[in-house]
Amino acid sequence: MRTNVGGEAGEQKCQRLRIDAAAVGALQEILFKETGVVLKKDSEEMILSRLGQRLKRLEIDSFGQYIAYVNQHYFKEVNFLVDALTTHETYFFREASHFDYAIGEIRRQRKRDVKIWSAAASYGHEAFTMALLLAEYSSFGTWQIYGTDVSPSSIERARRATYNQQDKNKIPDNLFDLFCVDKGDGTFTFRDTLLQRTIFEVFNLLTPYKSNFFDFVFLRNVLIYFNKGHQDKVIEHCLRALKAGGFLILGHSEKMAARGFALEALSGGIYRKL
Ligand SMILES: C[S@@+](CC[C@H](N)C(=O)[O-])C[C@H]1O[C@@H](n2cnc3c(N)ncnc32)[C@H](O)[C@@H]1O
Repeated sequence: MRTNVGGEAGEQKCQRLRIDAAAVGALQEILFKETGVVLKKDSEEMILSRLGQRLKRLEIDSFGQYIAYVNQHYFKEVNFLVDALTTHETYFFREASHFDYAIGEIRRQRKRDVKIWSAAASYGHEAFTMALLLAEYSSFGTWQIYGTDVSPSSIERARRATYNQQDKNKIPDNLFDLFCVDKGDGTFTFRDTLLQRTIFEVFNLLTPYKSNFFDFVFLRNVLIYFNKGHQDKVIEHCLRALKAGGFLILGHSEKMAARGFALEALSGGIYRKL
């Protein structure tokens, strides 16, 4: 049995890796400046686990040196840092009532030319969940889905559109059989009709996007990482992007953020722009 993976030298190196308050503060500041995400005060463990390997790969022995490295190679390293320190958890049909509502409304209005924005798309699960439902409703309609995220590596993965068995388990069998393609190596992707209508871009929600363009904006499980000022700013950008009468959909734990905006509250985190 191997008990000393990496050997003594590796273990000593691991043991030596610590992070002090100054380095935590510097990383918090960079992440906040780049994304608006506020790292919690007690995020030492999280930083160590997410950036420890990076320091090893760069053969850097302390976070102080790493901050200096980031400052020296800012534009290259900051993307890595943002990828590592933001949370990308997502899955198909997450908070499923939102998708039921959206497709129900599209059917009710007999809409074909639907435009949807998955505004913190992570690896694309939210965008492809809507794509599956729209493809079932209307494979010939002119619907389009935009997925954006500040994290370049997440968008790269979303563009690759390759998912695994665990992901497959979240998709109803009938939709999987109709619109997914097994790649023969335990992974799957989507049919071309879905891939062609699903566009992914790196984009920071702290800046305005399109104007009066979307019928639905999914802004879910990202506001929780922002302070109130940035929450307001991001909601303003999403409302600007929505057509009048369009729908803003927030994560179930983020409903409070919509207070004070000119929105009609519908059910469970769904709002209509007045
Ligand atoms: C937890 S995931 C949410 C994924 C999906 N919306 C869902 O609910 O399953 C949060 C995503 O927000 C992204 N994010 C954080 N700050 C952002 C910003 N300023 N602009 C755009 N995306 C951001 C992160 O990169 C991450 O992929």
